[in-house]
Amino acid sequence: MMDNKYLVEVQNLQQYFPVAGGKLFEKKVVKAVDNVSFGIKRGETLGLVGESGCGKTTTGRTLLRLYEPTSGKIFFDGEDITKVNMLPYRQKMQIVFQDPYASLDPRMTVGDIIGEAIDIHHLASSKKDRQDQIISVLSTVGLNSEHANRYPHEFSGGQRQRVGIARALAVNPQFIVCDEPVSALDVSIQAQVVNMFEQLQEEMGLTYLFIAHDLSIVKHISNRIGVMYLGKMVELADSYELTFHSVHPYTKSLISAIPIADPETSRKSKRIVLEGDVPSPVNPPSGCRFRTRCPYADELCAAEEPEWKEVSSGHYAACHHLDKVN
Ligand SMILES: Nc1ncnc2c1ncn2[C@@H]1O[C@H](COP(=O)(O)OP(=O)(O)O)[C@@H](O)[C@H]1O
Ligand SMILES: [Mg+2]
Repeated sequence: MMDNKYLVEVQNLQQYFPVAGGKLFEKKVVKAVDNVSFGIKRGETLGLVGESGCGKTTTGRTLLRLYEPTSGKIFFDGEDITKVNMLPYRQKMQIVFQDPYASLDPRMTVGDIIGEAIDIHHLASSKKDRQDQIISVLSTVGLNSEHANRYPHEFSGGQRQRVGIARALAVNPQFIVCDEPVSALDVSIQAQVVNMFEQLQEEMGLTYLFIAHDLSIVKHISNRIGVMYLGKMVELADSYELTFHSVHPYTKSLISAIPIADPETSRKSKRIVLEGDVPSPVNPPSGCRFRTRCPYADELCAAEEPEWKEVSSGHYAACHHLDKVN
């Protein structure tokens, strides 16, 4: 048994994907997630941010065992679930996907999409009970019984994402990975959907891993936020602490990138504007992976990987030069 402070915990999680097209006998891998450790407390929202390709989706899917981890451990409610049969845990741990267009089968009605989730876990005692459950969960996400007979293409993007949320909720989960659930939606309805996630959490005591590439979306909904860069977690802290007292140069650059519309946040942090692109996770830089874009990088950063340290209570970061940066 693990420390039960966390509902979900990963230790040294690693996900390497084989890459096609390497030279003969040369096995290349994408180090999508490389030794990441964090826990999510019961009832909290842990935000996970970082640029596209840094490993957020892979982290979320691997901790649900939708991908088998290359190494590391996964715990749910104190149980080591790294190698167990996941079927009973599928009910407790759900996911809402980024793209509501791609994640709903276009040939199934909304009622069947939700009913399927109910059937997999044998949650209905009769046909009527099944139908009642479908209608009840649709109303939970702001849809109605009429919608059950329609197909995904008949819905707007926001409504489709509500269907995706209803499908996740239909099995009464305790934990949901929300993988950029509003990124594909019109800006005008993003806040609505985020508010709905918050409300559902309050009503049902849900625990979320809430993924976004944009810090400005997660900082409101998250209790704590983790920042990833090229397969690594570089900083993790309470949401307010991370927004106003970040210590890692990469986090500072993300905060610098928040539009001026949010002057309070951007003013309090030293501005760091990054140049260049994220290097390939097939061939990450030696030492600190961020060093090729970091204004503070020196030989030490190239030679040694920085340690993941607690810099103040509950605030973690991995950087050799926290003194210089701050
Ligand atoms: N199934 C896969 N097979 C091979 N490479 C993958 C796979 N999924 C993701 N990757 C690679 O892993 C890295 C991390 O991807 P991903 O987790 O999707 O990042 P994010 O969600 O932060 O944008 C990227 O370089 C991506 O191309
Ligand atoms: Mg992603």
